[in-house]
Amino acid sequence: MKTLVIGAGNMGLTYAEGMAQSAMLNRRNLMVFDKSADVIARLRDLDHFDVYESLEECLPQADMVFVAVKPFHCDELFEEMKSMVNKDQIFVSLMAGVTIEKIQNGLGIKKVVRSMPNLPAQVGKGVTSYTESKEVSRVELLMVRNLLDTTGESIHVKNENFIDASTGISGSGPAYVFYFMNSMLEAARKMGFSKNDSKVLVSQTFEGAVELFNQNDLSPDTWMDRVASKGGTTRAALDSMDDNNVKELIKDAAYAAFDRAVELGEEK
Ligand SMILES: NC(=O)c1ccc[n+]([C@@H]2O[C@H](COP(=O)([O-])OP(=O)(O)OC[C@H]3O[C@@H](n4cnc5c(N)ncnc54)[C@H](OP(=O)(O)O)[C@@H]3O)[C@@H](O)[C@H]2O)c1
Repeated sequence: MKTLVIGAGNMGLTYAEGMAQSAMLNRRNLMVFDKSADVIARLRDLDHFDVYESLEECLPQADMVFVAVKPFHCDELFEEMKSMVNKDQIFVSLMAGVTIEKIQNGLGIKKVVRSMPNLPAQVGKGVTSYTESKEVSRVELLMVRNLLDTTGESIHVKNENFIDASTGISGSGPAYVFYFMNSMLEAARKMGFSKNDSKVLVSQTFEGAVELFNQNDLSPDTWMDRVASKGGTTRAALDSMDDNNVKELIKDAAYAAFDRAVELGEEK
């Protein structure tokens, strides 16, 4: 399978590196195209995969094409690609809010996998949700999944509504975690801890809690009960959050991202 990644920014480069480091593709089968001369020069120095500066040289020979440009660049890109694509190629989109139908119409092809990645893919801890057009076969979908998994884990979802929903949970989610971390860092600094100690206190707390959560099937509620005793310090903090409706506010935030993803998909 010859694979091409279009757009070597945060996401495209992360996936290209993930695939390059995996046993899934050998070097000869991984191509990267970007329109920026600086990016091309930097990638050629890295020498992790074949880098192209013209679509004519790489697109026609690709079996699978990952599209990782910003959504507002896709119309211009599709126009440029249209005369060079063929119906057997599989297009895997990483673009938020760009529907399968828009990709099919924009390129005049049928085989599309739409995915929603997230930023921890950069450290091999990403989660990607994906769904496909009916023209993609089971075997082709399995190949796509194997490539997506080179940056972490993936989940197959039954339709595009779940892609928009996962934007609200995992796509935008890392920013919610950073928001929470930021609040705790600010509190630690206010209590008098140094910048470095605050960072250790907060990052170890997050990492440790996630590790505990992943160890077994206990729910977050059960873990909260294990930390909090009646009349104790943690209960005081949790009561304060409940009194301020923090749980509902976080759910509202996830829905705001979900709704915005749907809205972006509806914009033509
Ligand atoms: N970052 C995230 O956390 C995240 C999460 C989920 C989904 N996504 C999706 O991932 C996609 C990429 O996001 P990103 O953050 O990686 O963007 P990015 O860092 O801006 O990378 C996009 C790259 O594509 C290049 N490019 C633009 N138009 C091109 C064209 N016509 N042909 C070839 N290359 C072109 C850009 O060059 P210029 O800079 O010169 O324009 C840039 O190098 C987006 O559609 C986004 O919705 C991102």
